[in-house]
Amino acid sequence: MSRVALVTGGTRGIGAAISMALHNAGYKVAATYAGNDEKARAFHDVTGISVHKWDVTDYEACGKGIAKIEDDLGHVDILVNNAGITRDAMFHKMTPQQWHEVINTNLTGLFNMTHQVWQGMRDRSFGRVINISSINGQKGQMGQANYSAAKAGDLGFTKALAQEGAAKNITVNAICPGYIGTEMVLAVPEKVLNERIIPQIPVGRLGEPEEIARIAVFLASDDAGFITGSTITANGGQLFV
Ligand SMILES: NC(=O)c1ccc[n+]([C@@H]2O[C@H](COP(=O)([O-])OP(=O)(O)OC[C@H]3O[C@@H](n4cnc5c(N)ncnc54)[C@H](OP(=O)(O)O)[C@@H]3O)[C@@H](O)[C@H]2O)c1
Repeated sequence: MSRVALVTGGTRGIGAAISMALHNAGYKVAATYAGNDEKARAFHDVTGISVHKWDVTDYEACGKGIAKIEDDLGHVDILVNNAGITRDAMFHKMTPQQWHEVINTNLTGLFNMTHQVWQGMRDRSFGRVINISSINGQKGQMGQANYSAAKAGDLGFTKALAQEGAAKNITVNAICPGYIGTEMVLAVPEKVLNERIIPQIPVGRLGEPEEIARIAVFLASDDAGFITGSTITANGGQLFV
């Protein structure tokens, strides 16, 4: 029987590419989103993948949403914590709201989601948790104290949980993309992209969402069973760690 994969923020950008790649690899996939119904509907119409709306910052909503998916598809075997936002500002101008929104989505969202599926993975002695962090969690980024802190937190979460999951055949890994051509990055003014960002990337281009999706498919597979607590870096040579 095919395994069930749940991808948060799985209807757009990197998450959509991950949802599709897992679907094409034979998994039963559920994709979640926060509020962009139009994009989610279009994604469902094209792919046939089920889409589910809730906010990953809401622990109760995560529990209810996951219960519905498990009723429909079966137990979640693979969780991809991909949902993320930016609220950029230099620190002296950063508001508490900008701080909390980013921490709540990009870090606490991982707790809210993973905590709901963890016991089931333990009971069934199988699980894959894949956390989408960022190059900016590895190196820090000015204007992103909130985002860099949350994404660095994701890496600590990954390493701690990997130790807890190992004996139960649950792997927990993180992927740190560099700049990938999604709406999040294409919202950056073209001049800044071309003159400041792309010149920092030795391969000379943005990454493709599918390049991150292929890593997620590998980490989800049985072939990746000996890889846990890892941070897989995919940034076109921008940062070596
Ligand atoms: N793009 C990059 O270059 C890059 C680089 C490094 C890391 N990342 C990370 O990769 C992940 C995906 O980025 P992306 O560029 O593909 O983002 P994106 O295109 O902006 O898509 C974000 C997705 O997350 C969902 N989402 C946002 N907040 C949510 C919440 N509170 N609850 C549930 N879902 C929520 C969105 O739902 P709606 O459609 O409803 O808004 C959307 O489906 C993020 O974690 C990001 O930090 C991206």
